[in-house]
Amino acid sequence: MLAMSTKLQGKSFLCEKDFSKDEFLYFIDLAMKLKEEKKQGVPHRHLEGKNIALLFEKPSTRTRCAFTVACIDLGAHPEYLGKDDIQLGKKESIEDTAKVLGRMFDGIEFRGFEHKKVEILAEHSGVPVWNGLTDQWHPTQTLADFLTVKENFGRLEGIKFVYVGDGRNNVANSLLVGGALVGMDVRICSPESLFPATEIVEIAQDLAKQSGGRVTITSNVDEGVAGADVIYTDVWVSMGEEAKFAERIALLSPYQVNREMIQKTGNDKVIFLHCLPAFHDLETSYGRDIHEKHGLAEMEVTDEVFRSKHSKVFDQAENRMHTIKAVMAATLGNLD
Ligand code: CP
Ligand code: NVA
Repeated sequence: MLAMSTKLQGKSFLCEKDFSKDEFLYFIDLAMKLKEEKKQGVPHRHLEGKNIALLFEKPSTRTRCAFTVACIDLGAHPEYLGKDDIQLGKKESIEDTAKVLGRMFDGIEFRGFEHKKVEILAEHSGVPVWNGLTDQWHPTQTLADFLTVKENFGRLEGIKFVYVGDGRNNVANSLLVGGALVGMDVRICSPESLFPATEIVEIAQDLAKQSGGRVTITSNVDEGVAGADVIYTDVWVSMGEEAKFAERIALLSPYQVNREMIQKTGNDKVIFLHCLPAFHDLETSYGRDIHEKHGLAEMEVTDEVFRSKHSKVFDQAENRMHTIKAVMAATLGNLD
C-alpha cells in the first residue's frame, strides 16, 4: 500500500484513463479502509494542516459535501469558492487563477463545464487537482460506484455493469472507461444518437483488452440488460443542457429503468445504481415543471425501482465521501 501511495503523491485526479488498473483499485481499497476507520472512530488525519480549495461552477450536493467532510476528517481546511465568488475565467484567466491558488492552497477540487479548465488548473497550479465533474468526465463518481459494487459482489472483474440512458454524458464516459480499466463486462445501452463518442469507445476497448474486460455499446434494451449484475442510470438531461428536455424524453423513454427492465435482467440479485440527483417523483420543483410541460411523473427511473430492494443509491452517495477521501489522502496525504 505504501509503495502505491508514494507513486500517487502529487498526482492530479482528472479522469480514469490517467491511472493503471492497480492504482484505480488501490483508491477503492484505501476508501474501504478509511470507511472502516471512520465507522470505528479511528482518526485518519492524513492531511493535517493542509488547505483545500473547492471550486464549483455548477451546483452540487454530494460532491461538495463529500469533499468538505472528507477534508475535515483528514484534518484539512476546505474553502468553498462558488461561481460568483472568484474571477475564474471572467476577469482572470484559468492559468493565472491556478498559479494564485497554488501559492495558497495545497490541493484544488474543480467542478465545471469544459474539461480543459481542470487540465489547465492541474498544469499550472503546482498542486494536486481533483475533478469533481466536468462536461466530459466524473471520475470520483466512478470510484464511489465501484466501491458500492465491491461491497455488494465482493469483486469488480467480470461484473456485468449496464449503464442505461444518455450514453454520451460525463457519467457514462467515466463508467465506460473505468469499467473497462478494472475488467468489467461494461455495457452502454442507449439510442444510437446518444452513443458515446468514438474516441471514448476506443479508449475503453484498448483498456478492456489489457484487463480482460468487455465493452458493448447497444441500442437494444433486451440484449443490453440480459444477465446484468448492475443497472445504472443518470439524468436524461445533464447540467448545462436544460434546453434538451423534449428531445431527450422522446429518445430516452424506452430506456427508463422500471420493473419490467429489472425483470428483463433475469437476475433477482441485480442492484440499481444512480449517481443522483434523480427524477423519480414529483417532490422537486424541477420534476413538477417537467410534469406540467411534458406530462411525465417519473423520468429515468420509476419511484418503485428507486425505492426497491435492488436500489443501493444511498450507500453509493455515502461512498462518495469515503472514495474522495481516499483520492485526497493518496495524492496529497501522509499515509505512513
Ligand atoms: N452525483 C453527484 O455528483 O452529485 P452532486 O451533483 O450533488 O454533487
Ligand atoms: N450527468 C449529470 C451528473 C450529475 C451528477 C450532470 O452532469 O448533470
